[in-house]
Order: sequence, then structure tokens, then C-alpha cells
Amino acid sequence: MKRRKFIQSAALTGLGLTVGTAFAACTDTQEQEKKNKSATSNSNMEPSTPMVIATWNVPNATTKAWEVLQEGKSALDAVEQGVMVEEADEKNQSVGKGGLPDRDGNVTLDACIMNKDGNYGAVVCIENIKHPIAVARKVMENTPHVLLAGNGAKQFAIESGFTPEDLLTESSKKAWEEWKIKSEYKPIINIENHDTIGMLAIDKNGDISGACTTSGLAYKMQGRVGDSAIIGSGLFVDNEVGGATATGMGEEVLKTVGSFLIVELMRQGKSPQEACEEAVKRVVKKSPNYKDFQVGYIAVNKKGETGAYCIHEWFNYTVYKNNENKNYKSDFYNK
Ligand code: GLY
Repeated sequence: MKRRKFIQSAALTGLGLTVGTAFAACTDTQEQEKKNKSATSNSNMEPSTPMVIATWNVPNATTKAWEVLQEGKSALDAVEQGVMVEEADEKNQSVGKGGLPDRDGNVTLDACIMNKDGNYGAVVCIENIKHPIAVARKVMENTPHVLLAGNGAKQFAIESGFTPEDLLTESSKKAWEEWKIKSEYKPIINIENHDTIGMLAIDKNGDISGACTTSGLAYKMQGRVGDSAIIGSGLFVDNEVGGATATGMGEEVLKTVGSFLIVELMRQGKSPQEACEEAVKRVVKKSPNYKDFQVGYIAVNKKGETGAYCIHEWFNYTVYKNNENKNYKSDFYNK
């Protein structure tokens, strides 16, 4: 399925109907929503770790991360290997190989990773490298820097042993060619099956790490960078408190530094759910046109309690804990 189509705001209601079938894995009754809320957002729940939480319906990615944790490896290894599953999936047109290109046909990727010590590594606008998250980890571990961009990031990846390849698949090329007929740049909203993959994990030692990876807004201007690789916006982890990660319209997440805000709100005593809700409300308050775009957050605190919230319906997320891998529909603001 094509993701990240640009649509006119007037089509928002219709799109909700269109994409409904893409969420067969999600429960959508009010009853289930209540159960989901109590299962994942209640501060009184029995905490459970190790655990993994990721944006969207990505059971293969969370399974991979869970397996890594079961081997006794770190949360950092888990989130890196978990999101790599989506980066390698050519059917996922918003991450890694097969990601939809910019308006000139270039697939450019953004990714970042944070570990338990608050270290951060990122790449932005990297081309021809299927696993930007693995490059981001190498930036963090093997360079004196935290963020490499464009050609420099690609050069560093090649020097680190990554093999360059064409990331534009036939399917993404076809979508881009169809888009070019009108070339309408209307980055209004996407509420489709997938967007950015953000993942947070807690390992057997109780340590938290996070990863976030994306091909960004489809048909963006060349050189555009979104929130996903920017510390505090697309991802933030403080091992004393918890972590948060974002999906949706990167420009809006950047302006409100949403993931950092969520972690700081949790530090002040809010539950992950309360913190995600406040971060979404901050976006809504600052953006009169909030009905035209989607932003969603997930968060976890040190106890393994989780939260999720978004502006519009249809955002969902996956939690793997207690040997169960489950997809949940997120609660949302615009009811
Ligand atoms: N959230 C992904 C992006 O806007 O690039």
C-alpha cells in the first residue's frame, strides 16, 4: 500500500474511510479502546520489563527487538536491530529501502539512536544506505560527532563497511512518477498504515534505549530534514526517567521539541499517557491548522509503563512484553 500520500485537507474524512482497511490488525471498538488504555496507560499497572514499544503495526520489528532482549543483549542492540527490520522491508514506503523519494526522485533517509548513557548519534539526508540506524550508531560510537549529513554521512557509512545501493524501488518510482504528473506539494497529513518507525526498549538491567528512522515526508524539497533524527524531537531518552518518540509531521514535532517535552513531563511526575497527551495538546495549541496534519507520540517510563496519543484517529503502536506482541490503537485528540 502506498503511504504518505499528500491529500487535501478537504479529503481528510474520506481518507479515514479509505485507510480504515489498512488497520485490520487494530482493534477499533470503544470497548477495546478502554481495554487498551487500561492495559497500556494506567500508571497503576504492574510494570513489566524487558519490553519493547514501537510506532505503528510492526510486529516483525518488535519481535526482532524482543528476541535480542531475550538473548540478554542491551536495549540499544534491541532497538537498532528492531527498526532495521522495517528499514529492510521494501513494502514499507516510509522507511529505508523503498522509501518514497523527494520531489527530484532521491530517497533520503534520517535516523537517530540514543543509549542509556544519554549518548546520541544521527544521520540526516543520507542516500544509498539501507540501514541509516546502524550508521547513526556508528556515528555515536566511532566519531567525535553526533550528527552527520548528506554526502559526509554516506562517505562515513561506506568507510565503515556499508555497501551503497539504489533505494528507489520500482513501486516507489512508480508512485513518484504518478505524483509528478500534478507535482502538487501538499504536505497536509498522512494517517496511513506506516510512517516513521520509532522504537523504545527496556532490557533486563532496566536500561532504556531508543531508535527512530524514516525516509521523511514524501516528495519533500531536496534537503528537507524532519524531526526523526533530531534529538529531543523525534526521539529522546533519559535512562533515569524514560523515553519518547514521535511519528507524523516532522515540522510540527520539531517546533515543539515533543519527545524531550514528554520525558521532562514524566520527570515531573506525569504518567507516560499524560505526558503524551500534553505534548500533542502543545502541538494543537501552537498550530491553528492542526486538523490538517498528524502527530503521534509513544512513551515509556522507567517502570515499563507506556503511553500513546495522537491528533487524529488511526495512529497505532505495538508493544511486546510478557511474551505477548500486541498492536493497540492510540487514543486521539480530534474526536
Ligand atoms: N516524522 C518524519 C518526518 O516528518 O520526517
